[in-house]
Amino acid sequence: MPCPSARALPPSLWRYADRLPFDAQAAVSLGEGLTPLLAAARLGTEIGVANLFIKNESLNPTWSHKDRFSTVAVTAAKDAGADILATSSTGNAGASLAAYAARAGLPCIVATLSGSAGPMLAQIRKYGARIVPFEQKQDRWSFLAKGVERFGWFATSPYRHPVVGSHPVGIEGYKTIAYEIIEQMDGEVPDWCALPVCYGDALAGVWLGFRDLLDEGKIPRMPRLLAAEAHGSLRQALAGQADRIPDMTPAFDALAVSVGATRSTFQALKALRETDGIAIPVSNDGLIAFQERVAAAEGAFLELSAVMPVAAIAAARKADIIRSHETVVAVVTASGLKDIDRSASTDAPAPFGNVDAALEYFEASGGRHRPA
Ligand SMILES: Cc1ncc(COP(=O)(O)O)c(C=O)c1O
Repeated sequence: MPCPSARALPPSLWRYADRLPFDAQAAVSLGEGLTPLLAAARLGTEIGVANLFIKNESLNPTWSHKDRFSTVAVTAAKDAGADILATSSTGNAGASLAAYAARAGLPCIVATLSGSAGPMLAQIRKYGARIVPFEQKQDRWSFLAKGVERFGWFATSPYRHPVVGSHPVGIEGYKTIAYEIIEQMDGEVPDWCALPVCYGDALAGVWLGFRDLLDEGKIPRMPRLLAAEAHGSLRQALAGQADRIPDMTPAFDALAVSVGATRSTFQALKALRETDGIAIPVSNDGLIAFQERVAAAEGAFLELSAVMPVAAIAAARKADIIRSHETVVAVVTASGLKDIDRSASTDAPAPFGNVDAALEYFEASGGRHRPA
């Protein structure tokens, strides 16, 4: 027999259903959420932040935080009687939507870009979704807009200019990241909460979650939010007074393909403004090395995009914007297997001819041989 508390609280983010738009019983769920918050002391020491935590979203069912979005969005689609799901995605959102569509028994269409990471495309296909690749970014949105008009697709991603963010009902799911962080920190509010940002759906959702807790008197203050972005649209918008987010001309092709968009959204800007937050651009330089540092220091192997908040925290610490004693949570959003085709390097020696030769290899390090 399940214990009473297990029956009362579903083992997923649907335990927070009273703050979500649907009942847990109606949810299309794969057991998403309830991801670990790891104290990252070793990595924290390396970057000069004594109280660093990693909220590891790569442990979600499709190995990214997008599952928090998809579970609510697909539940909403079912509730609305939709019969075909569709999204425009470079990978994670598409893989996640495809999985939840499969779970709901609905077909799913994913408009992708030709530069998307191979493992994510494979993942989308394995879940049975139809991939529709495009060369030009803008074609994906026109395709989606026409599919919505012509076939009644339930689109979960944005598809009109200027970008307004993904379907707001799915963004509700991201609030649960904030609820979990506060619970896992026994009610303590971190000074900073950093996320990788593309359209800023997750950033806006996390802000809404902390604000719920503030409004309910469960926390005394808001954390400052930090957006780690590729091309700097939020940083530029924050520097001015206007609400318009600039569309940036990319100075480089982002290795972190999942967050490669050149323009974020108003709600992300609002989340930053209202929490005295900051935006830090993160370039390709040193990103793979950072990915390896996080993996080797903490045992968390993350997608390049997911490493960006850690790189941004390190940069903010260096600039003394984040102080060494402050408590900082990095929300790391996806697994390193997602874009392994962009970051892999095994750096392994050639095969050893015999056991003695292999032992000899370890002699100089006294048998340890850990990466420096
Ligand atoms: C791994 C990963 N991190 C972060 C993001 C940023 O998402 P958002 O649009 O919520 O800012 C994405 C997707 O776009 C992603 O795939």
